[in-house]
Amino acid sequence: MKKRVVLYKRLPADLMSRLQAQVEVTWVDTAQADGLACLRSALPGAHGLLGASLRLDSGLLDLAPQLEVISSVSVGVDNYDIAELTRRGVMLTNTPDVLTETTADTGFALILASARRVVELATWVRAGQWQANLGPAHFGSDVHGKTLGIVGMGRIGEALARRGAAGFGMRVLYHGSRPKPDVEARYGAHYRSLDDLLAQADFVCLTVPLNASTEGLIGRRELALMKPEGILVNIARGRVVDELALIDALHAKRIRGAGLDVFAQEPLAADSPLLQLDNVVATPHIGSATHETRNAMARCAVENLLSALAGERPANLVNEGVLSEYLLPVS
Ligand code: DGY
Repeated sequence: MKKRVVLYKRLPADLMSRLQAQVEVTWVDTAQADGLACLRSALPGAHGLLGASLRLDSGLLDLAPQLEVISSVSVGVDNYDIAELTRRGVMLTNTPDVLTETTADTGFALILASARRVVELATWVRAGQWQANLGPAHFGSDVHGKTLGIVGMGRIGEALARRGAAGFGMRVLYHGSRPKPDVEARYGAHYRSLDDLLAQADFVCLTVPLNASTEGLIGRRELALMKPEGILVNIARGRVVDELALIDALHAKRIRGAGLDVFAQEPLAADSPLLQLDNVVATPHIGSATHETRNAMARCAVENLLSALAGERPANLVNEGVLSEYLLPVS
């Protein structure tokens, strides 16, 4: 008998066919008003879940006693209680690597858009306000040759470092859990404490995962350490930054601007004070959102799911500990 999978993210047709050939698929559209109710009725009997951006709390997990794997179509796993999944013997998989370059492109799009005031000035042109040659009031600042500070030197951090060093002749500083001599050798990057990085970088780009030690990492004190002409770019998670402190710093022009792809609450409320500020470029969590990359992520997630359900070790297993816990009964 085929195993049962609840799918709550749309898949390209070829991947859907591949999945349906091997498992019984129940599609749940969580964007619909009755999405949660449909999910609740699909969970009993489910062996696998595939989707993203859904917080699966204990109440939902209790409804799925046969669950073997959750295949997340994301690299970030902050939506999941990993210890709880491990305790229940549920594998969690994610989609690293395939989105690295696209997400680094998004980081640079925000760096360039913020420094060169692309969104603000394009809006100004559309409003018919370009009636004379530009003066200093509309000038931006250079990106090339400046100092790029990367907080979190994982895969995406390294892809940013490569763009900064090779593409824009930038000096690269980074902060992370430990110095990485290979990265330093490749990009001439220098390890700094977080405080030193904030004080020295022209662009501070956040790429850390959200967890207990990174939540609120950039607060009032940290923003105060940044240069007045500094620009903060967040392609990590909104809650890595104290958003109210950031709004205050931007409003008071204590820093020059921010390029934000992620927010404490998503979707960002239309009345967010961030959207009143000319020195903010806000994008709707587009980090990995290209056709090519989202298809690659979906493919990776399907492969992870099918290997887990086949009793193999999936390529992108997040909770390694589950392999030893797997046969323990859940009380
Ligand atoms: C991820 O994969 O975690 C991204 O934030 C989704 O774009």
